[in-house]
Amino acid sequence: MAVKIGLVGCGTVGMGLIELLDRKKDFLREKYDFDFSLVFVTDLIKGTVFSKDGLDTGELKETAARGGLSESGYAGTGSCGLAELLSETRPDIVCEAAPTDYRTGEPGMTILSSALKAGASAVTSSKGAVGLNMAGLKKLARENGVHLRFESSVLSGTPLINLVRGPLAGCSLSKAEGIVNGTTNYILTRMESGLSYSEALGEAQRLGYAETDPAGDVEGFDAAVKVCIMSAEFFGSALSIDEVRRAGITGVTEADVANAARSGRRIKLIAGVSRAGESVSGYVEPRAVDLANPLASISGAANAVTLTTDNLGEITVSGPGAGKKETAQGILSDMLEIVSLRSAGK
Ligand code: HSE
Repeated sequence: MAVKIGLVGCGTVGMGLIELLDRKKDFLREKYDFDFSLVFVTDLIKGTVFSKDGLDTGELKETAARGGLSESGYAGTGSCGLAELLSETRPDIVCEAAPTDYRTGEPGMTILSSALKAGASAVTSSKGAVGLNMAGLKKLARENGVHLRFESSVLSGTPLINLVRGPLAGCSLSKAEGIVNGTTNYILTRMESGLSYSEALGEAQRLGYAETDPAGDVEGFDAAVKVCIMSAEFFGSALSIDEVRRAGITGVTEADVANAARSGRRIKLIAGVSRAGESVSGYVEPRAVDLANPLASISGAANAVTLTTDNLGEITVSGPGAGKKETAQGILSDMLEIVSLRSAGK
């Protein structure tokens, strides 16, 4: 099936998606009948490039890696608003991978709403918009007969959202708890090896794990918005970010990490949401966990979430929690699902 894709945001994740699409083009066509054309890429810093006939992903990844999009040899380059791009190129799916504002959900909220209203399905890896108003965005998707997906907003490409939606359908959840921020887990892991907090944060930034403003990671906002997403998706309960009890790792010292290690424990930033009756509560807090706790072995940018279910007891999912190709994989799996739904006439 021919699929026209528009991409908003060409930072680490957007670049990861272009590279992944370029690398897997033939495989995607042969295995999934996913015959894509990338019709626009727009980024606040790098500029905009579009073509109704589809951009050359190989050329694009080279140009974008040099820092700009507009030097591509396409007719449609330069500055162009989203409304114009949508009406000019008529994408089937818009992928949103822009930096996120946890409180306003912007710019994702505007991008996703505009895409859905224009009749395009939307896939987002950023968290602000779905954390803030998932129900509103889902309603907009339904009203416009299109789909909204956000697998990579929690645990990057490691399946969690779609696992609960698909294979775990029929289970009722009472709790989801684990490590949901790759940057802080990376920092804590590296501090155990003797790096200072700022050295470890610098590494996490260079490796593409941290948010554009890493305060979002280390102060626990990123984990808190992921708690909001899990609460809305798993329990249908919209928590605001301020309703999530939140402490980050800025108060965790190198001495705390060393002391925990001496007593056979590791400090982890634990995030969770649980339901008791009608009441749903969310939290993010550093905890010294015993080495026997499975979460203690989650190291680097890996994440893990344990789901407490009625029918299957505890299910733990672990895997990459951040990263360029890892997050792009989550977006890709969402797009493949949308195409398979469309093939089935849904
Ligand atoms: N900054 C985020 C993290 C990216 O470190 O987990 C993935 O959501």
